[in-house]
Amino acid sequence: MDNTKHRLVVVVGSVRKGRFAPVVGSWVAGQAREHGGFDVDVVDLADFDIPLALPDAYPSVAGDSYPRPAAMAPLTEALAGADAFIMVTPEYNHSYPASLKAAIDWHYTQWAAKPVAFVSYGGGAGGRHAALHLENVLTELHAVTIRDGLAFPLNRVAWEDGRPLDAESAGYAKKLLHQLAWWAGALRTARETVPYPG
Ligand SMILES: Cc1cc2nc3c(=O)[nH]c(=O)nc-3n(C[C@H](O)[C@H](O)[C@H](O)COP(=O)(O)O)c2cc1C
Repeated sequence: MDNTKHRLVVVVGSVRKGRFAPVVGSWVAGQAREHGGFDVDVVDLADFDIPLALPDAYPSVAGDSYPRPAAMAPLTEALAGADAFIMVTPEYNHSYPASLKAAIDWHYTQWAAKPVAFVSYGGGAGGRHAALHLENVLTELHAVTIRDGLAFPLNRVAWEDGRPLDAESAGYAKKLLHQLAWWAGALRTARETVPYPG
């Protein structure tokens, strides 16, 4: 791994059969690789069994001893090792999918004092409701959400050959990635200098 680069995890948040999510996830990961400031890892939630029933313990209290299923370890390790996240989320019923909420709730310290950007898609609102709800949730987990987000309305017709038809999209992605890189560096230095008190 290149230590001068920030470790970015792109979380692909929907898991249903026939989903559009991998198209957006691949494009976003490609933009991040082109940016040059990140080592990029795509974490697709469809690759994991993420139960809805949580353990008795609270992740905020249990810390590293939170009892997760053994098969979840690669997911937890990927999140723990990240300096920054991009959450790729569709909009389901005015919010984000339950798969993403489950993955978030099984973790706690893995999000803390790290920046998170949102790339959303869906119907007319482009998944903006999903992203707004995620901002609230991630703030509760001590993450820092990035001001700029990407929202793609009418995703089924607004993309072709794995990329958005809107030619401005790559420019918006670059702006978001610059912000994310700045926060990733600032917060990594801060975490390494003084343990986060959360
Ligand atoms: C259960 C469900 C609920 C949805 N609700 C909304 C919604 O409230 N607003 C919206 O803009 N699109 C909504 N959509 C459209 C999805 O955002 C769109 O189909 C998107 O491709 C779903 O992401 P996925 O293909 O990665 O699962 C919904 C789709 C599903 C399956």
